[in-house]
Amino acid sequence: MTRIVGICGSLRAASYNRGLLRAAAASLPPGATLEVAEIGALPLFNEDIEKPEWPEPVQGFRRVLWTADAVLVATPEYNAGIPGVLKNAIDWASRFEGLGGRTAPEGDARKTPLQDVPVAIMGATPGSLGTARSQQQLRTVLLNVGMRVMPSPEAYVGGAKGRFAEGELADEASRAQVAKVVAGLVAWAGLAGRRAT
Ligand SMILES: Cc1cc2nc3c(=O)[nH]c(=O)nc-3n(C[C@H](O)[C@H](O)[C@H](O)COP(=O)(O)O)c2cc1C
Repeated sequence: MTRIVGICGSLRAASYNRGLLRAAAASLPPGATLEVAEIGALPLFNEDIEKPEWPEPVQGFRRVLWTADAVLVATPEYNAGIPGVLKNAIDWASRFEGLGGRTAPEGDARKTPLQDVPVAIMGATPGSLGTARSQQQLRTVLLNVGMRVMPSPEAYVGGAKGRFAEGELADEASRAQVAKVVAGLVAWAGLAGRRAT
């Protein structure tokens, strides 16, 4: 069983990237599950509000992440970079246990719910570069927080307006690309999913 936790880097109701995650959920191999962890209720990161304990939405977000065998991020690109809401979520999840309370399950000795977790990135945009620049930045950030970033396959869904129909990813080539990323992530979780417990 591979439990994948999805994160969408857009809060927009009709988000293309949320659509990518739905396409990913539709292409899961047997034995894999995908649950999206919501980031819209997280407050802006501020060390001053870590005490006496992390705000409830942060604790809930972290608890979902602790259950992940793998993480799948679908992100837009904002001004050639990572959307602020996504970076904010990563910053909250990157804080060490104890700094704002404890959210780790009993017996899990990792310092954060991101540590050693296999992760894959994909992205969609109406633009022509397919979120390549934000994905590149995101790789650097995810490596820095100790995640095991899948080197390939990658999914850059540019020209999204022509590839989505009624909010769903309709373009066959793009759907195949997403399915490849999902299959790759499940395999990567088998290879790289060792935990520090
Ligand atoms: C502040 C802002 C900056 C943006 N910058 C870029 C950009 O640098 N590259 C790009 O491809 N699209 C850019 N876009 C367009 C987004 O790709 C587009 O809004 C996309 O639909 C957002 O993803 P979503 O559909 O998942 O919400 C930008 C949009 C906003 C609101």
